[in-house]
Formats: sequence, structure tokens, C-alpha cells
Amino acid sequence: MKVLVVGSGGREHAIVRALARSPQRPELLCAPGNPGIAQDARLLAVGADDLPGLVAAARAEDVGLVVVGPEAPLVAGLVDALGDAGVPAFGPRAAAAALEGSKAFAKEVMAAAGVPTAGWAVAGSVQEGLAAIDRYPVVLKEDGLAAGKGVVIAQDEAEARATLEAFLVQRRFGGDRVLVEEHLEGEELSVLALCDGERAVLMAPAQDYKRIFDGDAGPNTGGMGSYSPVAGVDEALLAAIARTVHQPVVDELRRRGTPFRGVLYAGLMLTAEGPRVLEFNARFGDPETQAVLPRLRSDLLALMLAGAGVGGADLAGAVLEWAPDWAVTVVLASAGYPAAPTTGDPIAGLDRAAGAELTHAGTALRDGVLVTAGGRVLNVTGLGPDPAAARRAAYAAADQITFDGRQVRQDIALRAVERTGTTR
Ligand code: AMP
Ligand code: GLY
Repeated sequence: MKVLVVGSGGREHAIVRALARSPQRPELLCAPGNPGIAQDARLLAVGADDLPGLVAAARAEDVGLVVVGPEAPLVAGLVDALGDAGVPAFGPRAAAAALEGSKAFAKEVMAAAGVPTAGWAVAGSVQEGLAAIDRYPVVLKEDGLAAGKGVVIAQDEAEARATLEAFLVQRRFGGDRVLVEEHLEGEELSVLALCDGERAVLMAPAQDYKRIFDGDAGPNTGGMGSYSPVAGVDEALLAAIARTVHQPVVDELRRRGTPFRGVLYAGLMLTAEGPRVLEFNARFGDPETQAVLPRLRSDLLALMLAGAGVGGADLAGAVLEWAPDWAVTVVLASAGYPAAPTTGDPIAGLDRAAGAELTHAGTALRDGVLVTAGGRVLNVTGLGPDPAAARRAAYAAADQITFDGRQVRQDIALRAVERTGTTR
């Protein structure tokens, strides 16, 4: 069977790698992919946002399953368009992907389903926004897709006013609604589930590192590293999260006639009062996927076909098997990321980075030379019997790879090392 993965980042590279391990031996295609993915799949020169082009390519190639990586084509209705053309796809239709596309919609679904989340109000003007704030810090979120940049934690009224003006008057992200949200304290956790419209099967938990600098300093990024599993997050807590978060949302969307198929990603805050949802994504996380999928021993293709309902299959009774190892993913980012990433810098040392899983994100070939082509350039995933060993494998490989202005956080998964008491 031919499987087409849509996207061009480290997440898509990790998905391609996991699908390549399937005993069904799929023929793997990727659109548009990148030079690293080209080593594991045949690339199609179609952009991830070119919906008609992707549908045409999937039909021309007689693809048996399309796997959609990024959120934008999901929210724009790629899975709907593929469905209309008779092409099976793993991912939610637009009506269900709106869980990620609109934070206000996600809150409304959570309220209807009784899912624990931070208190909130929706504001359409600066006055409405300020009136909804009863204490600081407060979290202000642009309603639509903003690639992780539409969230501001305002410490006082002046900052809140400036943020509301940037979102609603200057319309920095083009939206006209802002979510005013209660600020929660705790540790963050990413819990992804495979869904078939009726059931949610949880994957191993992960943590990601969103800030650019060590110690969680500096601006938010798409993610500078991740690790899995997470010390202290046991089966009982995961079962509680499935019961109180993923399953009620899947039930609610099914009740509304817009079932959720694909990956439902809950970004959670583990507060003193229990887990609270910060956000939903309608797709695999990046870079969580690069740490989670290398540990998966089950057949990802079979699970995705079941999630997509191909041939009447479903996820009833599905149990995921995981390698006992820990996985630590370190992101190598370009100079100037996240504000203004520089591109075109030659990358050296990839051949010396053995002993780790290397996935490409923002890379390109220029006259046969691999160069940087985006903010997040490469991901290196180390595996090991404990967090310290996985960290050592990841950093030993990452240290071999060089390019001008390379940014690498040095503290990925250090928390896991300290917590499990393993040595550095
Ligand atoms: P989001 O895109 O909604 O996940 O927000 C991006 C980041 O902002 C999260 O990963 C958190 O670090 C932070 N954040 C979002 N909402 C809250 C909240 N209610 N309380 C505290 N921090 C938050
Ligand atoms: N790692 C955060 C995200 O994928 O949205």
C-alpha cells in the first residue's frame, strides 16, 4: 500500500520512519518533505497547503492512506477534500480540527463535555477584554492559529492593554476575538491520543521545551526539545486524563455529528487541583513526536488505518506497546530563531552523528550542499535505558553537527534525570 505523509518537518520525518517499520511494508511518499525525508520516502513536489494539488497527487498515485502532519491543511479541510475524492486519510475533518483552529470553540466543547480547563472569557474589544480580567498575571490568547506565538502572559494592566490592542486593533494575527484565561501554575504535559471517532487510545506522555533558552527563558518557539516518558506520570494518572479529557471530547464531537479521527493532543497543566487543559491540537506534536514514536513497537500503519476507519476497522481493543527506553530529542535551531531565523548556512558533521535518530526539519540542498532552511533545522533523538543515557546519546550526536549560529538548549530532559536519580 502507498502511504502519503503531508508536511515537511521533523514530526513528519519521525512519522515516515515509524511507518517504515510497519510489517505491512508500505511504499512511503511525502509532500513536500525535505532532504532528510527523501532518504526514507519518495517526495512529491506539492505544498502542504495546496489542497487541490494534494488530492490530485493522492489520486494519481492511488494512495491507500494520507497522513496529515501540520494543522493548517487540517483546519482548511484537507481531510474533507480527500474524503470527497474517496481517499482515506488519518486526521480530523475541518469541523473537528476546529478544536485547534479556534480556541473559543475548544473552550465551548470543553464546557459542554465537562473537561477541566482554566477559567476563561471571550472578548471582541479592548474594553471587553480588560473588564474580564480580575487578577494578574492573566493569559491572553489570540483565537485562531498563530503558530504558538499568539499567547501572552500579561503581568499587569498596561501589558494586558497593549496585548489586547496588538491582537484586536492592529490585528497582528488577523483575528477579531481574544481569549482571556486564568493563569495556572504547575508543570506542563503533552498527552496525545489516537482516535477513531469513538475511542481515544493514549500514547506515551511527553514534555516539550517551548522557550528558546535554558531554564525556560526567552520567547516561545515551536519547541526546542522533548522527552518521553515522563517521570511521575503513571498509568493511573494517564487513565484519569483519558477519562476526564480525551474521551469526553471525543464523545462530545461524535454527539454533534463531527467525529474526531486522528491525533487529539492535549496540552495540560498538572496543577495542585489536578490536570487542566491549556490547549488542544488536532495533530501530532512537534517535537514530541520525535521522542514518542521511536519508542513505539506497535504497527503505526495498522493503528492509523483503524483510526481512519479504512475497511471498517476501528481502535476497539487496541493496546500500544512501547520500548522500555527513554527518548530525548534535542532541536538544533538556526541563528536568530524564533524572531528572525537566518537560512542558507552550510551544515556539517551529519555523518558523525551516529548513535542517535536524526530527523530533518528546516534543511535544503543548495548545489548539493545541505544548508539551513528554517528556524528549527534538525532534531536528534537519543535512546537509552534511563534519561541520563538517552540525554548523553542525544547530545553526543548533536555536538557533532555544526552550522553558523546554531542554537541548542543544554537542559532538555535534565528534569527527568534529576527526578529519576540517574547520573548525568
Ligand atoms: P498554548 O498555545 O495555549 O499551549 O499556550 C502556549 C504556552 O503558554 C503554554 O505552553 C503555556 O506555557 C503557556 N500557557 C498557556 N495557557 C496558560 C495558562 N492558562 N496558564 C499558564 N500558562 C499558560
Ligand atoms: N510542541 C507543541 C506543538 O506541537 O504544538
